[in-house]
Amino acid sequence: MARGLLFIWMIPFVHLISLSSQQDIRFVYTGFGPTDLYLDGVASVLSSRLLQLTDASSQKTGHAFYKQPFEFNSSEPFSFSTHFICAFVPKPGVIGGHGIAFVASSSTDFTQADPTQYLGLFNISTNGSPSSHVLAVELDTVLSAEFDDIDNNHVGIDVNSLKSVVSAPASYFSNTERMNKAIQLVSGDPVQVWVDYDGTVLNVSLAPLKVQKPIQPLLSRAINLSEIFPDRRVFVGFSASTGSLISYQYVLGWSFSSGGVLLQDMDISKLPHVPRPKAGNKTSPLLISLLILMALVVLAALGGAYFYRRNKYAEVRDPWEKEYGPHRFSYKSLYKATKGFKKERLLGKGGFGEIYKGTLPLSRQIAVKRVSHKHNAEQGMKQFVAEVVSMGSLKHRNLVPLLGYCRRKGELLLVSEYMLNGSLDQYLFDNKDPGLSWSQRLAILKDIASALSYLHTEADKVFIHRDIKASNVMLDAEFSGRLGDFGMARFHDHGASPATTAAVGTVGYMAPELTTMGASTRTDVYAFGAFMLEVTCGRRPVEPEMPAEKQYLVKWVCESWKRVSLHEVKDPRLGGEFSLEEVEMVLKLGLLCTNIVPESRPTMEEVVQYLNWSLPLPEISPYSPGIGAFTRVVLEAFSSSSASSTSRRLPDPLNSSSSSNNSMFVTHTIIYGQGR
Ligand SMILES: *[C@@H]1O[C@H](CO)[C@@H](O)[C@H](O)[C@H]1NC(C)=O
Ligand SMILES: *[C@@H]1O[C@H](CO)[C@@H](O)[C@H](O)[C@H]1NC(C)=O
Ligand SMILES: *[C@@H]1O[C@H](CO)[C@@H](O)[C@H](O)[C@H]1NC(C)=O
Ligand SMILES: *[C@@H]1O[C@H](CO)[C@@H](O)[C@H](O)[C@H]1NC(C)=O
Ligand SMILES: *[C@@H]1O[C@H](CO)[C@@H](O)[C@H](O)[C@H]1NC(C)=O
Repeated sequence: MARGLLFIWMIPFVHLISLSSQQDIRFVYTGFGPTDLYLDGVASVLSSRLLQLTDASSQKTGHAFYKQPFEFNSSEPFSFSTHFICAFVPKPGVIGGHGIAFVASSSTDFTQADPTQYLGLFNISTNGSPSSHVLAVELDTVLSAEFDDIDNNHVGIDVNSLKSVVSAPASYFSNTERMNKAIQLVSGDPVQVWVDYDGTVLNVSLAPLKVQKPIQPLLSRAINLSEIFPDRRVFVGFSASTGSLISYQYVLGWSFSSGGVLLQDMDISKLPHVPRPKAGNKTSPLLISLLILMALVVLAALGGAYFYRRNKYAEVRDPWEKEYGPHRFSYKSLYKATKGFKKERLLGKGGFGEIYKGTLPLSRQIAVKRVSHKHNAEQGMKQFVAEVVSMGSLKHRNLVPLLGYCRRKGELLLVSEYMLNGSLDQYLFDNKDPGLSWSQRLAILKDIASALSYLHTEADKVFIHRDIKASNVMLDAEFSGRLGDFGMARFHDHGASPATTAAVGTVGYMAPELTTMGASTRTDVYAFGAFMLEVTCGRRPVEPEMPAEKQYLVKWVCESWKRVSLHEVKDPRLGGEFSLEEVEMVLKLGLLCTNIVPESRPTMEEVVQYLNWSLPLPEISPYSPGIGAFTRVVLEAFSSSSASSTSRRLPDPLNSSSSSNNSMFVTHTIIYGQGR
């Protein structure tokens, strides 16, 4: 065998020996240079000298061929040997695909070949066609049923077709352990592959890096290369593809020789390193689970927050409320206005609930009353809301404007304008400086009388307040009296159990007939009478801690009038600055209004006139019928949800030494709305 010129190219990492005259080829690459191979598709040589056949993009092919073909003639037995090292690095968290093939082909043009399961070697029409002239050793990492693949980690010998003539799961024969051992191709670990052909039999062997070539090949198959390549001209190289399953597929080094020339060994230590994406294949399922867990936690937190908020701002809204839409406040807006019903925002605790100060957008100040109620109160709710809303239409300068309402489960919120100077009882009883002068007190009485008269006569329909008392009288910025909290007693009424038809109010302001006849304008007049006495005397209508003769204001005023003089009951804090005439007139009017006989009480219109001196007060004496009487009421605990009712037995006027003939004793169960 005559051998001609011998070219030896000494490049640092490429040792190429071309035995040209007989077309015998011999080369070894430990790492690649950019122009060493013919590349197409996504194949490229990285700066690290790695041949990257596919990147991690999907549906791609990549090819790399030794630039020169080798030719063989029929006279000589044709043979070749090759050894290469490749690696399959899956994209983190994704199952890798599709595979690499060592290719011997009559052509380097694979532009029409398809990616995915075709491995960049064939397309649907060329697969299986003898005119393809392709011999391939596939390292297939996806099971393609159409090609009768045995698994997703196999090696096969392909002749013009992806239906391998022979295949086996990726494994190697361990020379030391004398047994077959599995290899996981898509592990990122380099895999050595040997393909040997002696002219008749093609052997394929695999082994992990640093493991010697197995003495037994994995595949061994008789192949007639002359049949496949009638032109006797062959290119050798690699083909690889990705589909929806993607891997970075690399060739680290490649040694090849044809003819009987000995295959050159590769120096493994000089091979480029395979880059590993941060999370390797082994940790990726863990990573996925972690990501899923994190997503779940975030979702749960978001869901929780959503339901918390939904619950936090939940309201009760019935279809019948539609017509009251403009008067309906959202709970969220009230919650925000009162800073979440903070303690600092608490203005006071009324008989029917807590009152909070709130600030709406545009710095509009409001008072929000929270009234809790039993669920059976829902029955009367429609009627009550209708009443509340119609009250909102009431316009009088001495009424606290009711702005609207909001409903929640077991709770009603009433929104009214915020009154700058608070409620009257604070000035009367809390020894607040400055105390109220007589003229201020009289002005406030006139204000409230005017408001009540409006409710009783001038409004579209008759409104009964039901709970007139100092703590329900508010003072605005001009210190004018404004009647607030109307309708609350009525609401309480709805909340009561149907078995009890009892009246509601505050002890000391309740007319005796309230328990039998129910509320009327005349019971309002009675309460206003008690209120007049309260303002003038600076004490509450009932004070159980006082000496017996003083406990009941109405009675005490009357007795004092009988014994000494009427005006001695006036608030000592008034000092000397008052009109005796006015004080006596107001006290007499108070007694007149608290007459136990409803018909003997003046109307609110008349009261306004008396207060303005435009109508002379009728002549009365402490001995006039029904005057100065106090009704004995037995109070029983009524566990209403609205008011924190307490059972309290008031002192019995019968046992007091100065019992009056005029006293009429009403013993009845009433609901006691606890006053401030
Ligand atoms: C398959 O490839 C051949 C050339 O190799 C081309 O002529 C043919 O059109 C291709 N067929 C398809 C379906 O792509
Ligand atoms: C192929 O393997 C067989 C053993 O299975 C061996 O006898 C033969 O020599 C091998 N041929 C080549 C070319 O390595
Ligand atoms: C291989 O195929 C060629 C052409 O078909 C034939 O001439 C030759 O005898 C075959 N060789 C063997 C070993 O079968
Ligand atoms: C009532 O409120 C106004 C406005 O805040 C204030 O100027 C005035 O002093 C207050 N009057 C009393 C008696 O507190
Ligand atoms: C009031 O009752 C007392 C007895 O409690 C009686 O002595 C007195 O005459 C009565 N006065 C009137 C005005 O009825």
